[in-house]
Amino acid sequence: MNKSILLAGFTALLLLSGCGKEQDYLVVGTNAAFPPFEYVGGVSGDQVMGFDIDLARKVAEDAGKTLKVENMKFDSLIVALNAGKIDMIASGMTITPERQASVDFSEPYYEATQVVLVNKQDDSIHSLADLTGKHFAVQLGSTADMMAKKYTQSVTAFNTGFEAIMELKNGKVDLVLFDSEPAANYLAKNPELKLISLDFPPEFYGFAVAKSQPELLASINKTLATMKQNGEYDALLAKHMK
Ligand code: ARG
Repeated sequence: MNKSILLAGFTALLLLSGCGKEQDYLVVGTNAAFPPFEYVGGVSGDQVMGFDIDLARKVAEDAGKTLKVENMKFDSLIVALNAGKIDMIASGMTITPERQASVDFSEPYYEATQVVLVNKQDDSIHSLADLTGKHFAVQLGSTADMMAKKYTQSVTAFNTGFEAIMELKNGKVDLVLFDSEPAANYLAKNPELKLISLDFPPEFYGFAVAKSQPELLASINKTLATMKQNGEYDALLAKHMK
């Protein structure tokens, strides 16, 4: 066979398989250190699972695609989305005006708030005012990270909330500022800590897509609305929230 025909054939094949890939997968980015929304576990111990992942699987299914999860640093998610490396962020991400400048969010799917974790013997925090000047540990690029700066100059940021909690347990910081559900989840495994609820404003989690993907956004919102209506959303809440 003529070489150029062969080459053309290969190119066509490559193109075809390339197209197929894009259409078959919904690539979802997350930072799987945020139980019960996303964490690593399962039989193999390296499976990404959780509330967000179950919701994302349904979104993919409704869009006729297979879910593919990419686990990455939290502060890389928006960059990866806008670089086209992932199609959607499902990562307990709070809808904020700053983020809305660079990505589009779905309708909110969960209401949360920040809470404070301290070592059990610490009795110095009873109100937001008591946070002034404390040494905070937070997750890098999180809403806690942004909020901490209102109270103090001493903020140490980590790639995961888990590392922030280790720092607290080692007595290197005064407190961890973290989202309510994951904080309660970590607390259950760390009885030497305690959780303090203060008057922090509510935060709403949304799935994020690139601004160039209005159809995907509409499809996510449709899935969420259907799941809220038919009880699947509540069933997932019951499965994941203790
Ligand atoms: N809700 C917070 C935020 O949007 C923290 C989210 C952290 N999520 C995660 N999967 N680690 O900044």
